Amino acid sequence: MVTSGMPPKLPALTLPALLEMKRARTRIVATTAYDATFGALFDRNGVDLILVGDSLGMVIQGRRNTLSVTMEMMVYHTAATARGVQRALLVADLPFASAPDPDTAFRNSARLLSEGGASMVKIEGSGYVLDCIRFLTEREIPVCGHLGLTPQSVHRLGGFKVQGRSDLAARAIVDSARAVEQAGASLLVLECVPVAVAAEVTAALAIPVIGIGAGAACDGQILVGYDLLGLDSGRRPRFVKDFLAGRDSADAAVQAYVQAVRSGSFPAVEHGY
Ligand code: KIV
Repeated sequence: MVTSGMPPKLPALTLPALLEMKRARTRIVATTAYDATFGALFDRNGVDLILVGDSLGMVIQGRRNTLSVTMEMMVYHTAATARGVQRALLVADLPFASAPDPDTAFRNSARLLSEGGASMVKIEGSGYVLDCIRFLTEREIPVCGHLGLTPQSVHRLGGFKVQGRSDLAARAIVDSARAVEQAGASLLVLECVPVAVAAEVTAALAIPVIGIGAGAACDGQILVGYDLLGLDSGRRPRFVKDFLAGRDSADAAVQAYVQAVRSGSFPAVEHGY
């Protein structure tokens, strides 16, 4: 029954619905947001998944990396974003050093769900992280993995560099992706890896793989919300596209991004490695 002139609210996108999108070959559209206004902008224009990323340390706070982002900051920005989001699945990052062991990971993840209003947490890496993923998912906290360029490993990696270029490194990423899925993750973000490596991971996993700088073969794409609106700091990575260019509103830009990901026209060849 229509009771006002307001457009009908779309039902919230659940995790099972998102998982079904991979089976149905519907590309998943994702972006980051850090507050209610941007959350609402992306949500009302059809973005499926909104990540409150620890990239907020760089994008919002102007830091050189994400390592100074704390749990307090993540809870604050997740709760703010949640107030603007009605339909999209809200995912929150576990920041640097917030998941050194399963118990601590559980306590911190529970805060992101109960105080922040997220439906899922994202955790970077594999190795000891696999125990955390298993512990969380066995306790009803859905987990998104994150492999390839993991920004919290910036010091070990020697900078924000494309990962998996050698055969050995590519194999390690594919093996880690399988392990992350087996540990219980429901989604995987794959960042800055060669197109062929992302294609292999996407084909190997039953869970959706969301790429950023990973080519068009992934099950979905994510961009930092500010980047897709052309609000970058001047040094634009190859995989970023400004969807506001040539359009007259932020809403039109987000709609163009959603349409481009859904149709497979973004990312194009020039956005890949
Ligand atoms: O923190 C973040 O914004 C992220 C995305 C780049 C995937 O992890």
